[in-house]
Amino acid sequence: METTFLQSVSYDNGVLKILDQTKIPNVTEFIAITKIEDVWDAIKQLKVRGAPAIGIAAAYGLVVGIQDLPESSFSEFYALLEKQADYLAASRPTAVNLFWALKRMKERALAEQDQPVAKIKKALEHEAHLIREEDEKVCRSIGEHALTLLHDGMGILTHCNAGGIATARYGTALAPLYLAKEKGWNIKVFADETRPLLQGARLTAWELMQAGIDITLITDSMAAMVMQRGLVQAVMVGCDRVAANGDVANKIGTYGVALLAKAHNIPFYVAAPLSTIDLETKTGADIPIEERDPAEITEGFGKRTAPEGVKVFNPAFDVTPNELVTAIITEKGILNGNYQESLPRLFDR
Ligand code: MRU
Repeated sequence: METTFLQSVSYDNGVLKILDQTKIPNVTEFIAITKIEDVWDAIKQLKVRGAPAIGIAAAYGLVVGIQDLPESSFSEFYALLEKQADYLAASRPTAVNLFWALKRMKERALAEQDQPVAKIKKALEHEAHLIREEDEKVCRSIGEHALTLLHDGMGILTHCNAGGIATARYGTALAPLYLAKEKGWNIKVFADETRPLLQGARLTAWELMQAGIDITLITDSMAAMVMQRGLVQAVMVGCDRVAANGDVANKIGTYGVALLAKAHNIPFYVAAPLSTIDLETKTGADIPIEERDPAEITEGFGKRTAPEGVKVFNPAFDVTPNELVTAIITEKGILNGNYQESLPRLFDR
């Protein structure tokens, strides 16, 4: 049976609707956004999060932002649109899907420049819908490819949330788990809670439980023991940016999980749509890593758990070097080995 998914980002008639992921698992609440500033804030505050969902929200965010722009000349319209795209691009730095989606929207505007601005606005709304619809197909396809690496009865460890709510549907790393469920397989998933913002505990556990998938929550520090006990036979994670050499940025803690997988001889798989692959970023060292508010660590979820004034380092992502990545699973197939060579070929027409 197919799982029913909540659509975490949608747009209708000037209103961007976002599932507020900061409220899950306690409350399932959608927020209606009609101002570009609120789109920026929703991305920054992780109300919408996960690389593909951020890209989709940014595309619709631009549609929201251009609603009231003057329609007398293309050049004036485009200059203002670019400003709005730059503004949204400043919300979070690591997930390349944000920049990918905004670039695609700008290219669509340029391609339509001979049309009246009112028509260009409509074309941009259509483009944002396409980005969302394509992501759904892409995720399904990633899931199908990833499923070929798995088998019934297997244990899988995942980190953060790369599920349906982080994308248009299905997720990336979680997509094969939904497809396995459709086939009647029993996959046992272990979810790291994912300090400090607990995407694993709050979102992955919630999402997989709703789908009736066997899910066990562990704290991040328990992953080594779970591997040592032979409870998982693969790690499957999503990612925020793949550099041209196959280094991958994902939620903080992913690098540690990759090292643990290597130590236990467990394959470490990264699910990544082409929209997350950035050939212009040469290596992982060139990926901008977001640093977030120290309060996320010292008083996460409103409770102080560290002394006032303590120094804090709070990077939201880390980079896993390519040699620890057993395979990168894309909608166009599975890559392993020399990523420097295989990644560019994905973009050949
Ligand atoms: O800070 P977040 O919650 O946006 O981080 C999300 C992740 O790290 C995900 O693993 C990644 O974006 C892939 S989502 C399909």
